[in-house]
Amino acid sequence: MTLHVDRIDLATAAETGVNPYLAGPYTPTHDELTLGDLEVVGEIPADLNGVYVRNGPNPQHEPDGRYHWFDGDGMVHAVHIADGQATYRNRWVRTSGFEREREAGAPLWKGIIEPPAGNPPGEPEKDTANTDVLFHNERLLALWYRAGKPYALDPVTLETLGAEDFDGTLRCEVSAHAKADERTGELMFFDYGTKRPYMRYGVVSPQGVVSHFIGVDLPGPRLPHDMAITARHSILMDLPLYNDPEAARHGRFKLFFDRDMPSRFGVIPRFGASCKIRWFEAAPCFIYHSVNAWDEGDEVVLDVCRVKQPEPRNDLAGPLANVLSYLRLDAHMHRYRFNLRTGKTVEQTIDDDNSEFPSINNRVLGTRSRYAYNMHISPESTLLFDGLMKYDVHTGAAETHWFGDGRWGSEAPFAPRPGADGEDDGYLVSYVYDEREGRSDVEVLDARDVTAGPLCRIKLPVRVPIGFHATWVPGEKLPGGSA
Ligand SMILES: [Fe+2]
Repeated sequence: MTLHVDRIDLATAAETGVNPYLAGPYTPTHDELTLGDLEVVGEIPADLNGVYVRNGPNPQHEPDGRYHWFDGDGMVHAVHIADGQATYRNRWVRTSGFEREREAGAPLWKGIIEPPAGNPPGEPEKDTANTDVLFHNERLLALWYRAGKPYALDPVTLETLGAEDFDGTLRCEVSAHAKADERTGELMFFDYGTKRPYMRYGVVSPQGVVSHFIGVDLPGPRLPHDMAITARHSILMDLPLYNDPEAARHGRFKLFFDRDMPSRFGVIPRFGASCKIRWFEAAPCFIYHSVNAWDEGDEVVLDVCRVKQPEPRNDLAGPLANVLSYLRLDAHMHRYRFNLRTGKTVEQTIDDDNSEFPSINNRVLGTRSRYAYNMHISPESTLLFDGLMKYDVHTGAAETHWFGDGRWGSEAPFAPRPGADGEDDGYLVSYVYDEREGRSDVEVLDARDVTAGPLCRIKLPVRVPIGFHATWVPGEKLPGGSA
């Protein structure tokens, strides 16, 4: 694979056809490593124990055809912190597609920008499990944005344990974003597809079996990415972004945003039957990620990062125009209030700055919360994060830690402090790629004061390519019960 060390900007990419998502901060890595004895600048907090793990695309072979950032095989990068020491590990997620391509020594699939003809029969896309990683029932689950098999991983060794079917009870796929409720131990999930009812929703019990499963009738195939939960409800999304039906008839994929179709949000009791779902209409939009949701009187409140311009910007030419257009993200913090008594929706902008990949303290997931920790999107042309924002979601006020010139951050999960006193009593942990040094740090921030800068930098001798979602597994939840 040809590796370009330097970051490629949008204009250069369009002009030269060099794919920026295989270059600079995105350059795939081919080594699976376990590295201890890491250099630390500052001091790792003595009460920070657990595993920070992030998923992302990392193709094992040189791509066949045009590469889209979403195509790469899932690779997890973890830093296990215990007793002031840190160990880094990275491992590919051993999906079925990964293993088959490993055996073949070459790609069996082309990426999503290329026509699917020639891909393995019945599998137009490779399920890469490359998008999210969450912790439930003592294991990590690596999930894929198109809805696929959840792959279970050991949270310490990162070994792939296999496709998780929850003791044979899983009857659908699982989308990238499912929600683990720490208070009850339940996992709420959905999938979506091209066949009726187009969406399904379920709950995995704390014991690890699917205990509730229903169809969710949508008017047609959609491309929802996330859901939300409150203590009592789940919220599903029917948004007016979908595959152009004309393109679909010809077996192709072309995103279409219908500005005449409202957004719809389905509010359903956690264990509700299909007939109990209540749909609330709002202005047309697209949403990748919810921040949090909660019940408040007659209302269900939902905070999200709302995409400002869902249509691809067709302002680029050249072979990579599609790839580059789809990956320009403009989103801002936004609030919906769905009134269960009146059926009305009220929506408002919380802040219009450009941010995404939100994290919260998962202990307050589904309950009224105050803080969100978002990645600030750089005005650079490819999707890069130049700062970590701490939002007060009720005022829209934000404090920002800027990573510095040529330093790009990564979704920063919240690590609660043992015996925490307050929602923001804990740490934020983020990979930061330094493009001048060609390697990454792990920055640890005090969530109560992000502008003070990192409490420590764990220096990795390697590069962690820019990727997608991350989570924090507290040490006491690891198998064996200690970090
Ligand atoms: Fe996502």
